[in-house]
Amino acid sequence: MTPPTTVRADGARETGAACAPGTARTAARTLARCRDLVRPSLSAAIERLHPWPGEMAAFSLGWCEVGGGPADGSFEGKGLRQTLAVLSAEAAGAPGESAVAGAVAVELVHTFSLLHDDIMDEDGTRRQRDTVWKAYGTGPAVLAGDALFALAVQTLAETPGPHTAAAVGRLSKTLSGLVRGQAEDLLFVARPWTGPEAVRTDEYRAMAELKTGTLLGCSAALGGLLGGAPARTVAALDRAGRHLGVAFQAVDDLLGIWGDPAVTGKPVHGDLRQRKKTYPVLAALAGQGRHARELSALLNSPQSLDEAGTVRAAALVEACGGRTATLGEARHHLDAARACLLSVPLAPRAACEIEVLLEFLLHRTV
Ligand code: IPE
Ligand code: IPE
Ligand code: MG
Ligand code: MG
Repeated sequence: MTPPTTVRADGARETGAACAPGTARTAARTLARCRDLVRPSLSAAIERLHPWPGEMAAFSLGWCEVGGGPADGSFEGKGLRQTLAVLSAEAAGAPGESAVAGAVAVELVHTFSLLHDDIMDEDGTRRQRDTVWKAYGTGPAVLAGDALFALAVQTLAETPGPHTAAAVGRLSKTLSGLVRGQAEDLLFVARPWTGPEAVRTDEYRAMAELKTGTLLGCSAALGGLLGGAPARTVAALDRAGRHLGVAFQAVDDLLGIWGDPAVTGKPVHGDLRQRKKTYPVLAALAGQGRHARELSALLNSPQSLDEAGTVRAAALVEACGGRTATLGEARHHLDAARACLLSVPLAPRAACEIEVLLEFLLHRTV
């Protein structure tokens, strides 16, 4: 049943117009539907790779084991970027199929970025198993990432249609933005936790928008573009995705401290040990009380944090309100994303599916 939605004369949905309340199961159904739609084209793209990086890419996507045998378990990602592309085309009134080339491209870029990110962050686990550099070695994982990067651009560039040049232009700008964001993320590690040189929350936001928001914005914008949406709608979808990116990254930071590794498939406390400037810690350090002083002393000590130190730091971040402040930050950016979506005419059903997805992402555990 299509949820009731009020549409204004200019086509934009009324603020507050109701979408049927969604559940995690509704969001999971949307993600699965879009994943199934994109999978044959994503698989065909991966098959074009040299067999060695192709196997690493398939391993990363959860489709095979090391050596190429079929995967003995479920190790796939959420597929958020391809889902945003498909839903955005549908929100523009086009069939989801029109966005598949864009969906493939953004999912390939996402996979590339994770392969390289795990090397940069020295993380050995993702999606419940070894990261590609752990399983195959660092050099091969760099190469597989490069192969995915190139394949993303090639896939989109070879897609026939009136929007190809604009789509490739967007994707290449996105790649530059993502790299800028990763550069800031890495440079922040060497910055102090407190004092005039400390990373400010507005700097964090700019970094998160670049490293995570540019690709989410691009996913939504490419879907709209390939679905024939007018420029104003494509721009609103891009802005919504960027806000979603800041919210998504803030929640990712939360899961990196309080998530269950058995559910997230990623290590816990890695960010704390590696001195990553994550939102919960920055928000906690902004406090003035006894807990904030203890946290600051712990983080500023020259020794690296041992297991007991990271557990204490996590408890202090919570006691200082860092966890609550991060949820507030994520909520703020999800509301901003929703406002962007409400500012343009969108097909109500797909718009509601996006809204349900936004809410799921705030409360996600994975
Ligand atoms: C992880 O992204 C990287 C970030 C931008 C935080 P996802 O949480 O979407 O990863 P998968 O694809 O579901 O594993
Ligand atoms: C994710 O950064 C952004 C990119 C991969 C570009 P993170 O390092 O915060 O993400 P996870 O937690 O490893 O997935
Ligand atoms: Mg990482
Ligand atoms: Mg990283």
